[in-house]
Amino acid sequence: MTLESTGSIARVREVTDRARAAGRRVGFVPTMGYLHAGHASLVAAARAHDDLVVVSIFVNPLQFAPGEDLDAYPRDLERDLAVCAEEGADLVFAPPVEEMYPRPPSTTVTVSGVSEPLEGRSRPTHFAGVATVVAKLFAIVGPCRAYFGEKDWQQLRVVQTMAADLSLPVEVVGCPIVREPDGLALSSRNVYLSDEERAQAPVLHRALRHGAELVAGGETDPGRVEAAMAAVIGEAPLATLDYVAAVQADSLTADGPLHGEVRLLGAVRFGRARLIDNVGVTAPA
Ligand code: PAF
Repeated sequence: MTLESTGSIARVREVTDRARAAGRRVGFVPTMGYLHAGHASLVAAARAHDDLVVVSIFVNPLQFAPGEDLDAYPRDLERDLAVCAEEGADLVFAPPVEEMYPRPPSTTVTVSGVSEPLEGRSRPTHFAGVATVVAKLFAIVGPCRAYFGEKDWQQLRVVQTMAADLSLPVEVVGCPIVREPDGLALSSRNVYLSDEERAQAPVLHRALRHGAELVAGGETDPGRVEAAMAAVIGEAPLATLDYVAAVQADSLTADGPLHGEVRLLGAVRFGRARLIDNVGVTAPA
């Protein structure tokens, strides 16, 4: 099947309904475009498992607060379509804002708990915007497997929680982070980095890996792990630390000694770029 691109909700429903009626599995990769190898790996994962692969490309205004980079967010639909074709996607849904939001929506999906710490504290309206658009995209695409990158670990947990709470007919699949050779996680926002900032940006991954080594070595005090990670970030003069956290991977909180599946997460600003990243580690029994 050659790649079809549409901006129409009705057309996506028609293609996905027809596929399911024929017994074909639908895979869905929601994105905001400006696709990189991380997105390509999600499309490849869908291609490997599903019969019809749908990619959405929509820079969702609801998840940007006033003063954030909505207008500056990088866009290149032509190149994105080429990436989707290369990875074997079948359908790209790239709607104009009026198709998604013909009027400002009166309905907002909020996911309490996992939305609240970390990114939720730094960007208080962000996850309601994400959950609302993802719920809408799931309603448009219908029953499917949906693929999300683990780089946005908290977003993945928010979407998994929403899908479970609302019994949405979607299996939410997390896929591994794709990194540059020096450890920097791929992100559409990496284009904001100057050469000097880019050279220092891998410090975030280095700090998280250092935290993971401490946990793997038996450190269970989240405060000590966080202080050690913050000290590594402090070695990069252009980095402004937003947060680093050592928490339980599922709940994104730490209300006692770290145990079981632990996630180390961080957000750092380099000039115009706000980078986030995370690393998982199993605490020794
Ligand atoms: O991760 C993203 O690109 C976005 O937050 C998503 C899931 C496509 C919702 O707009």
